[in-house]
Amino acid sequence: MDIRHLTSDDLDAVLDNRRRAFGPLSGGGAETWRKLVSPMLPEGRYLGAFDGPRLVGTARINPYVQWWHGRPLSMGGVAGVTVAPEDRGRGVGRALAHAAIERCAELGHAVSALYPATTPVYRSAGYEHAGVLQRITVPAEALRTLGGPGGPGGAAGAVKLRRMGPADAAEVVALIGRVHAAARASGPLCFDERTWRLWLEDDDDFCYLAEDGFVVYRWSDGDIEVDNLLAGSEATARALWSLVGSSSTVAKSVKAFVDPADPVLWMLRERSKDEASQTRWMFRLIDLPAAVEGRGFPAGVRAEIPVEVTDPLRPGNTGAWLLRVDGGAGSVTRRDAPGGDRAGGDSSGGDSSGGDSSGGDRAGGDATRLTIGGMSALFAGVPTATLRRAGLLNGGSPDTDDALDAAFGCTAYMIDYF
Ligand SMILES: CC(C)(COP(=O)(O)OP(=O)(O)OC[C@H]1O[C@@H](n2cnc3c(N)ncnc32)[C@H](O)[C@@H]1OP(=O)(O)O)[C@@H](O)C(=O)NCCC(=O)NCCS
Repeated sequence: MDIRHLTSDDLDAVLDNRRRAFGPLSGGGAETWRKLVSPMLPEGRYLGAFDGPRLVGTARINPYVQWWHGRPLSMGGVAGVTVAPEDRGRGVGRALAHAAIERCAELGHAVSALYPATTPVYRSAGYEHAGVLQRITVPAEALRTLGGPGGPGGAAGAVKLRRMGPADAAEVVALIGRVHAAARASGPLCFDERTWRLWLEDDDDFCYLAEDGFVVYRWSDGDIEVDNLLAGSEATARALWSLVGSSSTVAKSVKAFVDPADPVLWMLRERSKDEASQTRWMFRLIDLPAAVEGRGFPAGVRAEIPVEVTDPLRPGNTGAWLLRVDGGAGSVTRRDAPGGDRAGGDSSGGDSSGGDSSGGDRAGGDATRLTIGGMSALFAGVPTATLRRAGLLNGGSPDTDDALDAAFGCTAYMIDYF
């Protein structure tokens, strides 16, 4: 089997594979799909596994930015992983996952994320469960009244809303960055401008822009579905949600992808039981030093913690590191490099920290040891108490656990599926 970059000549075969994996795309859907993936082909973002001339599997790396404590990191969103039904169970999926990780590194993505249809193939490649995509269902009438008397923009003040289209793509991208930075968000992503232009062309989506927020919504089976709603202030949130809710004479409910801590949930007059469903996403560090340096950290946290990471696929991540967090920024420096401030045990071979849990309960002294999956989950805010009891984190001490939680702790989320 041979893995290479796909070209436009392969797209019919890719579409056939895709149909067998995920079901048919409608006529318009196939057209949009071609528009979406075509620019990625010359960039080497679509990998194909071939058995001779026959395409047996695919994996795509979407160019995204993902915010971690309000700072944007280059993220490779792995999608479109398919293996032809007759070729499954022979290791093609695993080989594609490994190739996608390698390609993420070549493309300069510090981190990678994906929505897994199955966990094992990605977990064995170093991805770990990290965050959620949450969809809430809210009565449309409850949203309509959020704007107060006067409708959207009424009681909320002079919030100016205007319709937006493809020409607003750059503004939306910039706005998303501003809102996530100010909220110190962890997990949400942004599509690149060309993808936004494509989304904003869709006549069935209704898109409105304010100075510090926007909404993209559509009709779906007689109700409303909100794809994206971001607001940087209370007034804009009220204006946008009440705009969506103004469909309440026809739509009874609104389904919306939101941050589990979206302010709208604290604005609704009634909230006892949430009607929410969650889809999980997995996350992997591609370049540990670049990811830690690019991530935001809480300004009040100051810590120096020895960690040992094992990454069989990316040796550059493996080793004994000193993690420093100070003044809202972080870094890792090698303790096992010549001249490095070596503080812990020898892990330079990359296999000394793997499954050894003998030090798991020792108080102090030794480094915190993590597989790359454990380190990725920690980076994404999964608590050390969870990681330790799941066997993904060993060594260290209760004090270093507290420090790691203070540095990385967050409830990571996305509002976009890919
Ligand atoms: C999921 C898919 C890509 C796996 O490809 P594959 O070539 O069959 O996978 P591999 O043979 O490399 O198997 C890799 C690991 O995944 C596991 N795995 C494969 N298919 C699985 C399934 N359907 N359910 C659970 N585990 C599965 C294998 O057991 C193996 O794990 P192990 O080594 O621990 O036993 C393939 O079944 C597929 O195309 N499915 C339909 C589309 C889809 O779901 N894509 C994934 C989108 S995220």
